[in-house]
Amino acid sequence: MSDHLTGVDLSAKMLAQARLKNCYDILIEEEVITFLNNTHDTYDLIQVLDVLPYFGDLNGFFASVSVRLSSEGFLLLSVEMSEDEIWKIQDSMRFCHHPDYVLTLADAHGLKLRHQEILTARQENGQALEVLLILFQAGMTAVSASLRFGQNDDLL
Ligand SMILES: C[S@@+](CC[C@H](N)C(=O)[O-])C[C@H]1O[C@@H](n2cnc3c(N)ncnc32)[C@H](O)[C@@H]1O
Repeated sequence: MSDHLTGVDLSAKMLAQARLKNCYDILIEEEVITFLNNTHDTYDLIQVLDVLPYFGDLNGFFASVSVRLSSEGFLLLSVEMSEDEIWKIQDSMRFCHHPDYVLTLADAHGLKLRHQEILTARQENGQALEVLLILFQAGMTAVSASLRFGQNDDLL
C-alpha cells in the first residue's frame, strides 16, 4: 500500500504490538506533535486513529500535521463526538470533539473535507462506541478537486 510506513506512539508497548505486524519501516517512540515538529519529512497519508481522544484543544495538532502533508496529501483521523461543547472530557477520561470544531480547524489549516462517516470503533461497557472518521486532503483547489473527485465529497 505504501513505499514507506512510519509508526509513531508514546507507548513502547503499543510499538511492540505494531512491530509484530511486520509492516512498518520505522517505529518511533515519541509524542506525535513533537515528532511532527521535528521531522523534515512530508507524508502522502497521515493516519491518526483513536489518538485525538487523548487531546483536548486540537489547534496545535492541526498546525503541526498540516505542514507535514505532501501537496494533496491525505489526513485520516477519528474523533469521539461532542454534541455541545467544542471539546470536553468524558467519564472515560478521553476527550470528545464537536464535528464542526474539527472541520473548522481543518479548514483554517488548508485541509479540505473529502469524506466523513460515523462508525462503531468497538464495544465499551457493553455499548457501541461510535466515532467520526474524517478524511481531509491538503492543497486542494476547487478546480483540482472537481477534476479528480467529481463535485461531491465522496472518495471512499
Ligand atoms: C487507543 S490507542 C490506539 C492505538 C492505534 N492508533 C490504533 O488505532 O490501534 C491510543 C494510542 O494513542 C497513543 N497516544 C496518546 N497520546 C499520544 C500523543 N500525544 N503522542 C503519541 N501517541 C499518543 C497512546 O500511547 C496509545 O497507544
